[in-house]
Amino acid sequence: MRADPPEFLRATRSSYDAIADDYADRFGDGLAGLPLERSLLTAFAELARTPGRAAGSTSPPVADLGCGPGYVTARLHRLGLPVFGVDLSPRMVSLAREAHPELRFHVGSMTALDLPTGTLGGIVALYSVIHIPDDHLTEVFTEFHRVLTPGAPVLLAFQSGDEDGGLHLDERFGHPVSLDYYWRSPATVVTHLTKAGLELTAQILREPTADEKRPRALLLARRPETAQD
Ligand SMILES: C[S@@+](CC[C@H](N)C(=O)[O-])C[C@H]1O[C@@H](n2cnc3c(N)ncnc32)[C@H](O)[C@@H]1O
Repeated sequence: MRADPPEFLRATRSSYDAIADDYADRFGDGLAGLPLERSLLTAFAELARTPGRAAGSTSPPVADLGCGPGYVTARLHRLGLPVFGVDLSPRMVSLAREAHPELRFHVGSMTALDLPTGTLGGIVALYSVIHIPDDHLTEVFTEFHRVLTPGAPVLLAFQSGDEDGGLHLDERFGHPVSLDYYWRSPATVVTHLTKAGLELTAQILREPTADEKRPRALLLARRPETAQD
């Protein structure tokens, strides 16, 4: 991350550092009871392995951005993908490394990835773009486009609904925090993806489970195979 990050990144990072241990205890196996998410990760893995895209002797790695405690990264690994996790919060990255010592995790921000252009075979970002303000979302997806190989898939999940909105929390798991959440309709997120040059593959809006308050959007997108004129 750049030496002088914007205030929203500093606030998000220090907030997740404060709550990382509690978050990992609460969501350590966050995919339990979420068959749609698990099946979309399987579909993502298949898309990331598509012959022709992964040409050459080794498949390009995929990144789990905003990986938190690393359980999604671990699932992508079990699905056979070369994968690493990136998270803004150093404490989250420590917990992910402790839980999954066989995998690679780095501290970084999806707003400015420390990765060469055109080198990723896919990006998963589950419940992490919810902390990106509206005026930075196209820029984040432009960064995704930059680091992806042509044709590479993107899987996003976020709390959603018909209308855009949000929430500011000053307390989470009993810790003082300063966390902004941005709720967006799938249409709003698709607009930002399109502006960044990514194209939508599929979208699902599912009802909340008994543990959730809001509907969840799951979007599959990709970097087009060829440049769009
Ligand atoms: C709600 S948690 C989701 C974690 C995990 N993906 C999951 O589904 O359980 C949001 C995570 O995104 C990370 N995050 C927020 N903004 C980020 C950014 N700009 N770059 C990388 N990670 C970010 C937070 O540190 C936190 O670990």
